[in-house]
Amino acid sequence: LNYRVPRTRKEIFETLVKGLQRLEYRGYDSAGIAVDGPSKNTDINSNNICLIKKKGKVKALDEELYKKDSLDLDEKLCTHIGLAHTRWATHGEPSALNSHPHRSDKHNEFVVIHNGIITNYKELKKYLITKGYDFESETDTEVIPKLIKYVYDNRESDITFSTLVERVIQQLEGAFALVFKSRHFPGEAVSTRRGSPLLIGVRSEHELSTEHIPVQYKNGELSHFMEINSHNSSDCSNTMGDDKAVEYYFASDASAIIEHTNKVLYLEDDDIAVVTGGELSIHRMSRQAGEDPVRAIQTLQMELQQIMKGNFDAFMQKEIFEQPESVVNTMRGRICFDSNTVILGGLKDHLKEIKRCRRLIVIGCGTSFHAAVATRQILEELTELPVMVELASDFLDRNTPIFRDDVTFFISQSGETADTLMALRYCKDHGALTVGITNTVGSTICRETVCGVHINAGPEIGVASTKAYTSQFVSLIMFGLMMSEDRLSLQNRRLEIINGLRMLPDQIKTVLSLDEKIKAIASELYQQRSLLVMGRGYNYATCLEGALKIKEITYMHSEGILAGELKHGPLALIDKHMPVIMVIMRDACYIKCQNALQQVTARSGRPIILCCQDDPEVTKNAYQTIELPHAVDCLQGILTVIPLQLLSFHLAVLRGYDVDCPRNLAKSVTVE
Ligand code: G6P
Repeated sequence: LNYRVPRTRKEIFETLVKGLQRLEYRGYDSAGIAVDGPSKNTDINSNNICLIKKKGKVKALDEELYKKDSLDLDEKLCTHIGLAHTRWATHGEPSALNSHPHRSDKHNEFVVIHNGIITNYKELKKYLITKGYDFESETDTEVIPKLIKYVYDNRESDITFSTLVERVIQQLEGAFALVFKSRHFPGEAVSTRRGSPLLIGVRSEHELSTEHIPVQYKNGELSHFMEINSHNSSDCSNTMGDDKAVEYYFASDASAIIEHTNKVLYLEDDDIAVVTGGELSIHRMSRQAGEDPVRAIQTLQMELQQIMKGNFDAFMQKEIFEQPESVVNTMRGRICFDSNTVILGGLKDHLKEIKRCRRLIVIGCGTSFHAAVATRQILEELTELPVMVELASDFLDRNTPIFRDDVTFFISQSGETADTLMALRYCKDHGALTVGITNTVGSTICRETVCGVHINAGPEIGVASTKAYTSQFVSLIMFGLMMSEDRLSLQNRRLEIINGLRMLPDQIKTVLSLDEKIKAIASELYQQRSLLVMGRGYNYATCLEGALKIKEITYMHSEGILAGELKHGPLALIDKHMPVIMVIMRDACYIKCQNALQQVTARSGRPIILCCQDDPEVTKNAYQTIELPHAVDCLQGILTVIPLQLLSFHLAVLRGYDVDCPRNLAKSVTVE
């Protein structure tokens, strides 16, 4: 790629598609591209923008690109802005129409790609519809190109592209990383972020003339990528200095651009980055005199595989550490901490029907089932309804009686698990209302349920589920809060929980800071054959889920034991050699858990105890303790499960296993 040689449209396609492929590992459901052209247009004036979008894999999009007869693949372009995006659906099913780039109108006056969620999109959409704008997708994103066109059409004087973008983002709530392109501003790109990552790769003339050693890639990946090839004269042999930037790559993740440059700068929230005339400038949204920020260009030293995983050794580890953000994404736009209200948009139209039901039945497999166990008690308390939790396979084996006035919940990260799907169809056939709680918009469970909640945890790659569990947990709690909004007697309890949810992200960070300690414990345990995890009440699910994590990735035998059942069997396993983890938090089961602890220590057991900070009573009987922040009882399970996620990860690493792809297991089990 020599800057003196202009690029053909085909080369531009290849660069964009490659970028998308580098991000494929994250999971996605559709992809799209915007490029200039065709130059000999039949449409209004020149500067046409061509949009090509396709459901499914990047490969399908790639094939589609070459089907456009109107696009001259060999046409040479000196300055070009191309946008490309892979989508992980949050609003609207996966389809070509819902995929990005989104556009302002059929002439593609403004096009945009977006990562994140716009939480006030409904209000904006309503307003724009009253102003005569037609929407073609079901996405939250589409309000953005419509809004920028609205601002542009109503401008009173000349306005710059970046001012337009500033006006638009002033109206947006939620999280976003955005890149805009417009036929009104050819050769110009504007980009900004708030809450979602965005970096700019800067490729200089010097680098362009340097031989690059090809990077070896195992998988690809992407979800947000833009490439600008900014040669600004017709023969492209311009006057750029020795190390002047000639190409800028905007991306959500360095893996998309690392093969072009290792020089990157990271944008901060409310930075506006503009490339025009081949120059990059960055300013703050509400610019104050002398406040133009400097964003240092960093040189990335990492291999592609490392960058995809950030500083982590495995996707599972990355996903464990993402939990402070993923739980926020689950709550975003749903909990109003000022008014203490909770609204799950996907359920609100069915709330009356749900409130009239005879019982709630929550069904799932594996980790998703454990999320149901974890929240059963609080759902019973907040909904004042009987709540059954069911393993999908067992539920079907029993031909469980189901009635028209039952409300059935199907919890599934993938939305594709065959057992859960069969249970859903069974409940549908019996006339029950079906509700999906999934992480995958457009999945089969999503489509076949009447209503539901998307947990918004982001793509989960590691086979052992971690962040999806905590987001399922939070989603079910939010459902309970929504159901109890008008119960006077429950208002104090609701306030306590909502306040607890507000503190959750920081508390998760505190738990994650115990990683080194947990690693040290793992180094003592990793050669053991067995590991018992014991607790009761709100933390019983933590024991089941912790033991499942250990089984899945370390191949050690592990059992989650209800402490109340100890004397009915498991106590026989206890001796000074058997490793035991106990969860003893300050809740209604505290005294009973201490009794279990006595029974264990009386048999020479040496328990590792997960307990609240400053609990000398428990600490004195422990072999080791992992002290956790105190949370509201029904949220405590989110904090107690994380040390066990970390422990299983470290045990697996020490035992030399592939953490992300455990033997014999699959991320999504689509056979019964
Ligand atoms: C498989 C996965 C587990 C997951 C379970 C349910 O067994 O290995 O990690 O918990 O399926 O998957 P779902 O996608 O329905 O949550």
